[in-house]
Amino acid sequence: MEKSFPALQMGQLVCGRGSIAFLKTLQKQRVAVLYDSRVFNERARADLCALLGGDVRFIADILGEPTLDDIRTAVNALGDFAPELFVAIGGGSVMDVTKAVWLLYEHPQLDLADAFKPFQLPAPAGKADIAAVPTTSGTGSETTCCAVFTNTQTQEKQLMLGFEIVPKYAILDPNFTDTLPGLVAAHTGMDALSHAMEAAVCKAASPLVISIALGATLDLLENLPLSVNEGEGRKAYAREQCHYAATMAGVAINNCSAGLVHALDQPGPYFGLPHGLVCGLLLPYTTAFHSPHPVYAQMAGRLGFAGSEAQRCAQLVDYLWAFQTKVGVAHSFKELGVDEAAFMDRLAAFAAVVDTSMAARLSPRQPTQVEAAEILRAAYYGERPAAPAKA
Ligand SMILES: [Fe+2]
Repeated sequence: MEKSFPALQMGQLVCGRGSIAFLKTLQKQRVAVLYDSRVFNERARADLCALLGGDVRFIADILGEPTLDDIRTAVNALGDFAPELFVAIGGGSVMDVTKAVWLLYEHPQLDLADAFKPFQLPAPAGKADIAAVPTTSGTGSETTCCAVFTNTQTQEKQLMLGFEIVPKYAILDPNFTDTLPGLVAAHTGMDALSHAMEAAVCKAASPLVISIALGATLDLLENLPLSVNEGEGRKAYAREQCHYAATMAGVAINNCSAGLVHALDQPGPYFGLPHGLVCGLLLPYTTAFHSPHPVYAQMAGRLGFAGSEAQRCAQLVDYLWAFQTKVGVAHSFKELGVDEAAFMDRLAAFAAVVDTSMAARLSPRQPTQVEAAEILRAAYYGERPAAPAKA
């Protein structure tokens, strides 16, 4: 049998202030745009029409967490329009709906239920491409093979998974991030940091993934506090760096897997907490659980920490704890006002996911349900995690 070698899968990534102008170089005459009107207002939409010329239609304004109904509504709005390009301008929600609408446009006969069979999507028919223009810096959806939807009838999350839905182009124009509220920048940035740190230690990470994930981790640690707290001048630069790093973190997880933070993000949807906030809250706890780890030690070394592998990992966990305070992310669910009895009542159910979650399985050490429950319990009360620090 021939030996196989790891390869890095991603779309074409374009970056720079004003890089939305790249869309014009694609020379598409019929363009369907899905967007979020809170960041892509009427004036911006008029500018896009002027830039592209041709027949540009705005088919869906996606404002909340994406649902299966959003897919159906956007497909209906598309009608018999035959775009050559789908453009998604917004956060993860807009990009996720665009992936699904594109899939059903490519394959009109595909049953929506079949679209949710993991990694069993049909090959593209070649009618149109997707260009994603993220306006937040966190989900990485512009580079990933995943789209998440809520089924409003059952309130369950449904995942669409397949490399076919990775956008062909990701256009990283930081001009869209300048007006992001600090809190959104903090939460989405912590989501990106979790992607980067989890990919870096994922069991399936190749050397290329580790290199990208380490770089993204350090860029986010350096720039996120400035991006959240600074005045306009340095903030704009920091936001730009975070924007690029968040996408590279997305490339990293797309080429291996997210990890334990993402497996344990069960209280997020259950209590209506932002995904990035829950990721950021859990990160020191899971980092301590996986320590010592040689890649964490490498990360800590690049941050300037010295000592044995275990000592450097312990310092990294302390650093993350202080980092939460710097960017305004809570240490505990209790601090967020989550009801204690309701949380403890669900604790076992939240923890049970680690037996079946791919993210838990591919993390450096798959916890038992008891260990996972202990991580969540400590995170509820804000019991400061500590990595074993023996030399
Ligand atoms: Fe995430």
